[in-house]
Parts: sequence; structure tokens; C-alpha cells
Amino acid sequence: MRRVTFFLTGVLIIVLSGCSKYEIPKPELPEDIPTDVSYSADIQPIFDAKCVNCHSGANDPDLTADWSYDELIDGDYVDTDDPLSSVLYEIFSGTHDGRATEEEVLYILGWIVEGAENN
Ligand code: HEC
Repeated sequence: MRRVTFFLTGVLIIVLSGCSKYEIPKPELPEDIPTDVSYSADIQPIFDAKCVNCHSGANDPDLTADWSYDELIDGDYVDTDDPLSSVLYEIFSGTHDGRATEEEVLYILGWIVEGAENN
């Protein structure tokens, strides 16, 4: 019995140490992410130019200037704890690929990383 326990402990150690080796790395934020991003000066103009033709009522979220901030926050489109998982960021790798430039998408991500403030 003791031998079996010893053996099982050994197996357990091997399995556990094996697992930690293959832990899925958490994706890291891109290095060239902008800082000091202003919602009104940097983000809303992107929505005005690239989004409001479709997002002004008919499709959620409404991204027109009077509504966009509240819609994004109340609708849980941004996740400040895990910015890369924000719907507002991920959508550009999905159905909205190419609807904003890479730089614009980085600005949106930078704004979320800095706390998604109405600044
Ligand atoms: C040509 C029309 C069109 C344009 C331009 C457009 N969208 Fe969309 N958007 C849609 C449609 C339709 C949906 C719903 C289907 C989908 O997810 O693609 C959607 C969905 C979304 C969603 C997810 C909504 C949800 O409830 O899950 C977000 C966020 C979003 N758009 C943001 C944007 C932003 C930001 C821009 C500008 C950079 C933009 N969209 C430009 C048509 C558009």
C-alpha cells in the first residue's frame, strides 16, 4: 500500500509539474499602445468618421456623440479589468476587421487600458 501511495504521489508530481509547463500564457498588451487618450478628442472622432453611419440607433451600440459613452459603459462593451477581452476591441478581429485602422484600434484599446474614462 505504501508503495502504491509513493508511486501515485510520484505520478501526481510529474503530472502537476507537466501542467505548469504548458500553462496558456496570458496575452500581453501591444507595446505601441497610446497613452493619455482622450475620449472626446481621440475616440469620439473615430466613431464619427467610421461608425455612426451604421451605429446611430439601428445597430447597438449607438455611437453618436450624445449617447456613445453611456451606451459603451452601460452595455458592457468595455472591460477595464481585461481590456483585450472588451467587445469594443475584439470586434475588430471579427466581423469588424478593417472598419478602423490599426492605429485607431490601438487608441480604443489604450483608452480602455487607462480606465475608459469620459475625459
Ligand atoms: C457597415 C455598417 C457598420 C459599420 C460602419 C460599423 N458597424 Fe458595428 N456593427 C454593425 C452590425 C450590423 C453589427 C451587428 C453584427 C455584428 O456584430 O457584426 C455591429 C456590431 C457592433 C458591435 C457589437 C454589438 C453587440 O451588441 O455585440 C460593436 C461594439 C460595434 N459594432 C462597434 C463598431 C465600431 C466601434 C465601429 C466603427 C469603427 C463600427 N461598429 C462600424 C454594423 C456596422
